[in-house]
Amino acid sequence: MMPISPDKILPKVWAIGGGKGGVGKSVITSSLGIALARKGKRCVLLDADLGGANLHTLMGVPYPKRTLTDFLLRKVSSLNDALMPTSMPNLSLISGSRAMLEMGNLHNAQKTKIIRQLFDLDADYILLDLGAGSTFNSLDFFLAAHERVMVVVPTPTSIENAYHFLKAAYYRQLKHAIRSAGAGKDLESYLEEKVSLGIRSPAQFMEHLSERIPKAAMAIRKVMQDFSPRLIVNQVQNMEEISLGDQMVVACRDFFGIEMGYLGNVKSDECVLRAIQMRRPVLEAFPGSPFVSAINGITRRLVGD
Ligand SMILES: Nc1ncnc2c1ncn2[C@@H]1O[C@H](COP(=O)(O)OP(=O)(O)O)[C@@H](O)[C@H]1O
Ligand SMILES: [Mg+2]
Repeated sequence: MMPISPDKILPKVWAIGGGKGGVGKSVITSSLGIALARKGKRCVLLDADLGGANLHTLMGVPYPKRTLTDFLLRKVSSLNDALMPTSMPNLSLISGSRAMLEMGNLHNAQKTKIIRQLFDLDADYILLDLGAGSTFNSLDFFLAAHERVMVVVPTPTSIENAYHFLKAAYYRQLKHAIRSAGAGKDLESYLEEKVSLGIRSPAQFMEHLSERIPKAAMAIRKVMQDFSPRLIVNQVQNMEEISLGDQMVVACRDFFGIEMGYLGNVKSDECVLRAIQMRRPVLEAFPGSPFVSAINGITRRLVGD
């Protein structure tokens, strides 16, 4: 591997997940990427939904010449070589298409290899489009990112899957935190036994931990402060649905003891489907649409300007 020069700026990695399929993760990921590229940021979209990769279609690339599969099968030696240009300046794609079926579930070594090389990519931003479900693949890509964005739509099933995904991600991070705090195996088994101990939420678990082993609990709490996911509520249609974001922030505070950053809502907008049918990015086909103004607002909030 090439040595990283001391002044090399590492890319910022954003993961877009949420546990449920069909909520708009891919449309939002591609749109955020285009918005960043238009700001002059060099951006890479990585399709991490190996079971249902379709980011290439949203980017108007029907048959990607190179894909993540080429990297995993060692047809190309580095993740950089799996990059494909798109029709837009500053924006490249690592497609997940042609992923073999069994690659829907990557081996741990393959996942680690992708995650390690992510941070070596020559880009300002890398956006990961995650697959549905709370698989270890999705959770580990989510946890590897600097910004962890959840997309939900206002339906009971999406909300349920989002909480499930978040809980799975939280406990996975907690397990890493316990290990790195050197808190020992007995604490890990305590984590396994939480249900039989009557612990119903991550917030309760942290309280128990603070009573049992105050010193390690402090170190663990510190690591867990970085967990901080962000939330986008997509496809909202009325005021009641708009209030879901604030409700979820409060619920996460109570249940997880974490502050979720609410990035805003995106209205249900027929331009999205029309653009997909035209095989063109929404930002290009319908620049004046409500969807595009919502995406621009969310991009500004994430970049911090
Ligand atoms: N804000 C929106 N308004 C209207 N339709 C939307 C919106 N966001 C997503 N969709 C629709 O949802 C479908 C699924 O989006 P997609 O990004 O593929 O979901 P996911 O990646 O979460 O599976 C798209 O085909 C699109 O028509
Ligand atoms: Mg998708």
